[in-house]
Amino acid sequence: MLIKDSVIVITGATAGIGAAIARQLAQKGAKLVLTGRRQDRLDSLQHDLNISDSHLLCIAGDLRDEGFCNQLVHQTVKRFNRIDVLINNAGLGHASRLIDIPSADFQTVWETNVYAVVWLSQAVATVMQNQSPEPHTRKRGQIINVSSIIEDRPLINQVIYSASKAAVNHYSRGLRMELSKSDITISILYPGLTHTEFHDAKLGQQTKPQFRKMGVTPDLVAKQVERAILKQKWEIYVTWYDCFFVQANRHFPLLTDQVFRYVANRKEEA
Ligand SMILES: NC(=O)c1ccc[n+]([C@@H]2O[C@H](COP(=O)([O-])OP(=O)(O)OC[C@H]3O[C@@H](n4cnc5c(N)ncnc54)[C@H](OP(=O)(O)O)[C@@H]3O)[C@@H](O)[C@H]2O)c1
Repeated sequence: MLIKDSVIVITGATAGIGAAIARQLAQKGAKLVLTGRRQDRLDSLQHDLNISDSHLLCIAGDLRDEGFCNQLVHQTVKRFNRIDVLINNAGLGHASRLIDIPSADFQTVWETNVYAVVWLSQAVATVMQNQSPEPHTRKRGQIINVSSIIEDRPLINQVIYSASKAAVNHYSRGLRMELSKSDITISILYPGLTHTEFHDAKLGQQTKPQFRKMGVTPDLVAKQVERAILKQKWEIYVTWYDCFFVQANRHFPLLTDQVFRYVANRKEEA
């Protein structure tokens, strides 16, 4: 799909991967709809992007509110008349043992990472089904749902987060099946460790300092997203080793369970 003048909605644009995708696609002339809860961040991003008002709509709000998700879609269509790409990027991490998770944390993670994806995908897919195809690819639209390389890998202390991403995957693949005749591409992005505010924002236990400095840059993730829009890719990996990790977990789950259990037990003994 051509990016110039395409209408692209990006959630979680106030930080990290979402902000990097916004910068990348702004350079290519997309019409952007950006959202996040922090209005001051949206203001400074708008300033940095330096694109004309005719190509930008910023709407602050909380995606855990279904009413806000519907408003976001409504305002976008009112302003631009169509939606070519939705990038469900906003997300929240969580770290704690399963038996210790407060119910409120569970709810917050699930609402942010899963419910908002479902609400926005439903509303946007309905718009896409009723709009004319993009002339270049004959596609009516693309929805990119941001998952994680650990969606199929329950790591100790990260299970609620990875389960939420597994739900995103399951939902996305189901949507892909159900919309297979609608000319709407459903894509899944699998970031690995990426250097963003994710580890500061996450609920539960703090991330160890050595992990905070690790990972690829969000700009690298954004470049892969641009490529996935141009080529209408279904599955989006940022590096070859992310792809290897996902495939190993998928094809050899018992073996990888054993490896991760062994490593975790060795760490506890040390
Ligand atoms: N960083 C990694 O290592 C990594 C690895 C795998 C997958 N991912 C996934 O990549 C995506 C982006 O993460 P990131 O690394 O860029 O994290 P980040 O820097 O913490 O950014 C998260 C974004 O989500 C938004 N957000 C969170 N809760 C929200 C809510 N209730 N309503 C509206 N917006 C909300 C935040 O905006 P406000 O706070 O302004 O609302 C922020 O813009 C997430 O889905 C994450 O799970 C990240």
